[in-house]
Amino acid sequence: MEDHSMTSEYIHTPHPGTGPRRLGTVIGGSHSSGVDVKVDGDSSIEDIRVGSHVTIRSTSTRFFGMITDVSLKSTDPSLASQTQHSSNQLFIEILAGTTAYGVFKVRPRLVLPNVLGGNSEMLSKVRSVPVHFSPVIEASEADYATVFGQEDGRHFWIGSPLDIETKICLDMNTFVQRSNGVFGKSGTGKSFLTRLLLAGIIQKTDAVSLIFDMHNDHGWQGRDRERGLRPKGLKQLFPSRVTIFTLDAQSSLRRGVQFESEIQIPYADIEPEDVELLASTLNITDNGVQAVYRLARHLGRQWLKKFLEFSNAKDLNSLAEEIHEAPSTLSALRRRLERLERMPYLTKDSLADPLGSILDFLQRGTHIVLEFGDHRSLADYILVSNLLTRRIREKYIQWTQRAATTNQSEPRPLVICIEEAHAFLDSSIGAETTFGAIAREDRKNNITLMVVDQRPSSLDPDVISQIGTRIIYPLDNDRDIASALSGAPDSGELRGVLAGLDAQQQALVFGYAVPTPIVVKVREYGSPDSYRQLVDSAMYSASSSYDEKGRDLLFP
Ligand SMILES: Nc1ncnc2c1ncn2[C@@H]1O[C@H](COP(=O)(O)OP(=O)(O)OP(=O)(O)O)[C@@H](O)[C@H]1O
Ligand SMILES: [Mg+2]
Repeated sequence: MEDHSMTSEYIHTPHPGTGPRRLGTVIGGSHSSGVDVKVDGDSSIEDIRVGSHVTIRSTSTRFFGMITDVSLKSTDPSLASQTQHSSNQLFIEILAGTTAYGVFKVRPRLVLPNVLGGNSEMLSKVRSVPVHFSPVIEASEADYATVFGQEDGRHFWIGSPLDIETKICLDMNTFVQRSNGVFGKSGTGKSFLTRLLLAGIIQKTDAVSLIFDMHNDHGWQGRDRERGLRPKGLKQLFPSRVTIFTLDAQSSLRRGVQFESEIQIPYADIEPEDVELLASTLNITDNGVQAVYRLARHLGRQWLKKFLEFSNAKDLNSLAEEIHEAPSTLSALRRRLERLERMPYLTKDSLADPLGSILDFLQRGTHIVLEFGDHRSLADYILVSNLLTRRIREKYIQWTQRAATTNQSEPRPLVICIEEAHAFLDSSIGAETTFGAIAREDRKNNITLMVVDQRPSSLDPDVISQIGTRIIYPLDNDRDIASALSGAPDSGELRGVLAGLDAQQQALVFGYAVPTPIVVKVREYGSPDSYRQLVDSAMYSASSSYDEKGRDLLFP
């Protein structure tokens, strides 16, 4: 039974001077549009920040909600014409708070449990509104902990709310159950956050991650051009949990990276789907793409190697005739595909097996960063990421199906992290790409994506709708904002919240891994303290991931 004595005491106990401030009083509103709150006399409208959270103490319920708008109101329509008094302090003082006052809008989203120390499982959805004149109070540290959980074996600290210094956590187990998205314009903090999220996955879950690290940011030292620092990569923080593969051993050696091995990809692994994804990057026409499918049917697995061996016009013409293609299409295609010959990690040796050891490491629970070294054009990135992911996916589907029919265990959940995600998930590329299929349906095959992108409007809307948790930094373009927020609860209001974020290190988080949308100031990454906190927080980890070796390396 509910403990009513504790309930009423908890609801009505006023906060002492240092506790959360009372900000205002409910004066109206509705369930559909949110609650209107008049700013109390001793608070200033300037202190009310869109995106921060409050609690509303109604008669028997405590609501938790976000401030979504702030406005100035007056009861006297003639006020606007009395601006000649604007320098008269007495006039201002008489009107302030009565005739002229501030109002903010709160969107209550959760009902807090009526017991001290409640947890997020005891939260319920809002189905009513608070009564008139309910006090509205800043959310306290305890309120945030109730809603978002405290740092523990599942919960990873990602940042703090805008107004108080307390930890906001993500439930990482829930986070990895679906695909996720990190969006924001250039320079907002996506890569820094991605590294933090990956550290959270490493520490708090049984999932493994495979990171296609186009900019050599995540494995060893990253870049922080603005502060002139070299932030540590995941291998440096968690040496026994992370392995680096490289496409470019020379570049990795030059940068002093401790990598496992260099990856070589046989030509025979390149399939028409890979070329289709590369079409716009390599300037291949639709006819050219069709020709690739025909060539593969005609020449078999080694189609690319064989096709590139057709060096003179006569042979090319007779090939064109055999597969009913225009000779001009084939010769244009051949010229475009010559670019692949200059990719040094592609090898004619069909015995190379880039996949074997990657899968071995993943199944043993080791996270993999594949760095691209100096081969980091979009064409390199698309080709390698798509090709490896396709083959890993095939294996995962096999393993998952096998687990369903035998008593073998399912493969370890895998999170694949891609940047510039629109290159793989563009709505014009067509629905059936490997990454599209993973985003849409592969939760059941134990694979999810972490999609990092500057231009969410280029992503297939179907894919966006499958993204479980979204973390959104500021975006400039209206279409990007609309796509990033599509399907969000009250996206109109969240748009206003997003517009109020600082240009860097502040993001809106909503979706599956948080009980309610929240704006966070993302936790700092890059100082010795930040590394210490990250590695130490592994001690809370449920699994055996506390990395002694990592600690020794960082703090000898
Ligand atoms: N959590 C953080 N801790 C410390 N610094 C940060 C953090 N987030 C962002 N920054 C600062 O902002 C800069 C830009 O961040 P980052 O490189 O992550 O941007 P980005 O969104 O990945 O940009 P791009 O799209 O150009 O790759 C960093 O170099 C760093 O100075
Ligand atoms: Mg980046």
